[in-house]
Amino acid sequence: MTIKQMRKHFDRLFGPGGEIHGYFAPGRVNLIGEHIDYNGGHVFPCALTVGNYVMIRKRNDRELHFYSLNFRIGGMMISSLDNMAYSKRDGWTNYPRGVIDTFQKHGMPIDTGLDILVYGNIPGSGLSSSAAMEVSIAVALKDMFGYNQLVDREKTAILAQEAECNYNGLSCGIMDQYASAMGKQGHAILLNCANLEHEYIPLNIGDCKILVINSNKPHSLVSSHYNERRAECERALADLKKVVNIENLCDLKPAEFEKYKDAIQDEVYRRRAKHAVYEEQRVLDCVQALKDGDFETFGRLLNESGDSLRYDYEATCFEIDTLVEAARHQEGVLGARETGGGWGGNIVALVKDENVDEIIQNIQEEYKQKTNLKADVLILSTGHGGRKMF
Ligand code: GLA
Repeated sequence: MTIKQMRKHFDRLFGPGGEIHGYFAPGRVNLIGEHIDYNGGHVFPCALTVGNYVMIRKRNDRELHFYSLNFRIGGMMISSLDNMAYSKRDGWTNYPRGVIDTFQKHGMPIDTGLDILVYGNIPGSGLSSSAAMEVSIAVALKDMFGYNQLVDREKTAILAQEAECNYNGLSCGIMDQYASAMGKQGHAILLNCANLEHEYIPLNIGDCKILVINSNKPHSLVSSHYNERRAECERALADLKKVVNIENLCDLKPAEFEKYKDAIQDEVYRRRAKHAVYEEQRVLDCVQALKDGDFETFGRLLNESGDSLRYDYEATCFEIDTLVEAARHQEGVLGARETGGGWGGNIVALVKDENVDEIIQNIQEEYKQKTNLKADVLILSTGHGGRKMF
């Protein structure tokens, strides 16, 4: 879909005239550092070139008219600025409505109705289409209602995350919205989620490529699993705090964790905490390996992260395990692991450039044979964060 085509849809659906603005925000993929943003650790995501496009125009009343070119069956979804409570009935529009509500709650009135057309080109689920939606709407609101001074790019991410947590009920960390708002082409972001200090690291991967492979496993119940893991980490932290002075699980180095881990009463919670502590160390080691051009180590750390997610964090599923295994035993694959929220979605694999076509074909064949599902492959290309188009 081109911008021109989208513009035509806008006129057809909402009628011509008025001042129409266009915005975009990308999806993300996390290279390493999974389930540690909410444990105060470092993550290492990058923004994609695919994402969410939004066209918006102010209305003369207080109605919100939404249309998604991805969910056309839903038709025009209409709600009102005078009733901003979350309602299941509002379906996908709860994402943009959540952002509008969050702006209002932060003392930034959205005082006219809006016509909003959205189109997303992020394939499958698990590459943060919801964060891309939230960030693109936040970028639009701050621009159209005069809040650009108040809301910088980082604040955009914070508001979008708040909308996801408080309005849509997934207690997510900051990673997805941060990558979508702050991404930089050609770079991954080393983000310290405890204080939002960050560094853009050039993604120079020499003669390698990064594959993002979608399992096409529809993930249901993800948010309940996710919120459960978060609660388990909080329990582990509470136990640890009785014996050591820390704010977050990721404040501990692996050796310190080994010293204090018995303070965690529950064996399951202990494993969750172990994942967080060791994953944090892997992120730092991985960034060093990337800086050193040591792709063997980069790959090995991806594998270790994947195993930890599978066995200690128990955030994978049969389809993901099958896909990761299919990837790992191809010649030229240096490492592979699940990426993102878990229990489905995507894996990332670091592979040698020269074998890439054969690797993709073999993985797809093996995965299809074992699961009867098709694996969709994206060769990673990185993009910039959320922005105004016109
Ligand atoms: C989801 C959440 C993120 C992060 C990842 C796991 O994508 O939205 O905040 O916790 O899962 O790393």
